[in-house]
Amino acid sequence: MQWDHIIKNGNIVLNNTIEQGNIYIKNGLIEAISKNELQGDAKQVTDASGKYVLPGLIDTHIHSRDGGATYKEDFSYSTTAAAIGGITTVFEMPNTNPSVNTRDNFIKQKNNLESKANIDFGLWGISLGDLNKANLQELHDSGVIGIKYFWGYAVNKEDFQLVYNYDPSLKNVMPPCDDGEVYEIFKSVAKTGNVLAIHAENSDLMHRLAENIEDTKGDDYDVFLSSRPQLAEILTVQTAIEFTRDLGTRLHILHVTTKRSVELIRQAQKEGLPVTAETCPHYLFLTNESYKEIGPVMKVFPLVKEKEDQDEIWNGIADGTISSVCSDHAPHTEEEKSGDLWTMPAGMCGVETIVPLLLNAVNEGRLSLLKFSELLSSNPAKNFGIFPKKGSLAIGTDADITILDMDKKWTIKREDLHSKSKITAYDGFEITGKPVQTIVRGETIMKDNEIKTTGIGQLVKRNESIL
Ligand code: DOR
Ligand code: ZN
Repeated sequence: MQWDHIIKNGNIVLNNTIEQGNIYIKNGLIEAISKNELQGDAKQVTDASGKYVLPGLIDTHIHSRDGGATYKEDFSYSTTAAAIGGITTVFEMPNTNPSVNTRDNFIKQKNNLESKANIDFGLWGISLGDLNKANLQELHDSGVIGIKYFWGYAVNKEDFQLVYNYDPSLKNVMPPCDDGEVYEIFKSVAKTGNVLAIHAENSDLMHRLAENIEDTKGDDYDVFLSSRPQLAEILTVQTAIEFTRDLGTRLHILHVTTKRSVELIRQAQKEGLPVTAETCPHYLFLTNESYKEIGPVMKVFPLVKEKEDQDEIWNGIADGTISSVCSDHAPHTEEEKSGDLWTMPAGMCGVETIVPLLLNAVNEGRLSLLKFSELLSSNPAKNFGIFPKKGSLAIGTDADITILDMDKKWTIKREDLHSKSKITAYDGFEITGKPVQTIVRGETIMKDNEIKTTGIGQLVKRNESIL
């Protein structure tokens, strides 16, 4: 047999075990996994001795700003950063310009991103309430990975871009949908059978709380947090769970940040409701206390909360309530992020640092490597209908593979990041563990921190299973 690529002598991370062996790749697919050497030559051989070999890692939540705000980031940059960070598939969020709100815009975006993609990608569709209720079925049929609803956000009337600092007096803005309209979104998505993923923050509450604060210019994170508190998320999560109980909508709760949300989601899952949840590194590794050192670059929506929230999020990961971790990569420029805490846009880079941060946590004994592999690979693939094509090392599936050096000690430096924007909360963080090779459908995209192949990324659609 002439193989395309053999990965030799790695510690292969399978479903429940880690076993030493070799992986044989042909035509972009995994053809064999064997403890013994199989016959035949290969065009490429990777020696993975002493390294860990995982199913390709998936980041289900990134904002590459492409099209639209490509001065902040674009898909070529974000997928380069992702590949350096050990990611083989990203799911691109739909709050682009044009937004992914119709079938036509889905096709436009697929073509736009495919021309720049260094790794594979899925596309989210957006719900804009009544405005595109009638388009959700065609978005589903086009192959969106899920439908995203930015609950609590107002959007610009013309281009549907998010309004970060909503005020009801603003002109040319569609205010956040009321609960009746959101109920209709749940109903429409339920009909498609796709996942409805929600950004969960209650705008009415946040707006009223902000009105009662005198100093809305100050640099005090806790004052800012008191205007966007835990309760804003909890109210929305609770309403969403009840909508799902009523309508059966398959619900995914994005970037969970509070203790009480974890408890509500755990309870809903116990009751058998179709609810999954994710969180992000900033909620696992930062708290309100981090602001003293890190400052306003750590402003993300929903805001990073308190230590007791963080502890329960870790518990939620341990018991499976939270089944995936994603970056919410949301770059803005240096100038945009150097303004005032209250008015600057929310978001920071994350696609390149998510894997290192979590590997460091593995090395600290906070989670096992098997759990890490579930959180970043098999669970996201299962939650969004691309398993086992992605998210597994099964025979006949895409040869997407991430190779890790678990012993490598290094420091995250903002200037070393590969995104257009270098905005990160993790500058100077000391890390043990690093992705050293990123392989997409058999092709080495990154090796030892260098990009080896570009532009081969393809769209992956929901329910596109090859087995
Ligand atoms: O911090 C955030 N940034 N949260 C969001 O919900 C949106 C994102 C963005 O697109 O900038
Ligand atoms: Zn996001």
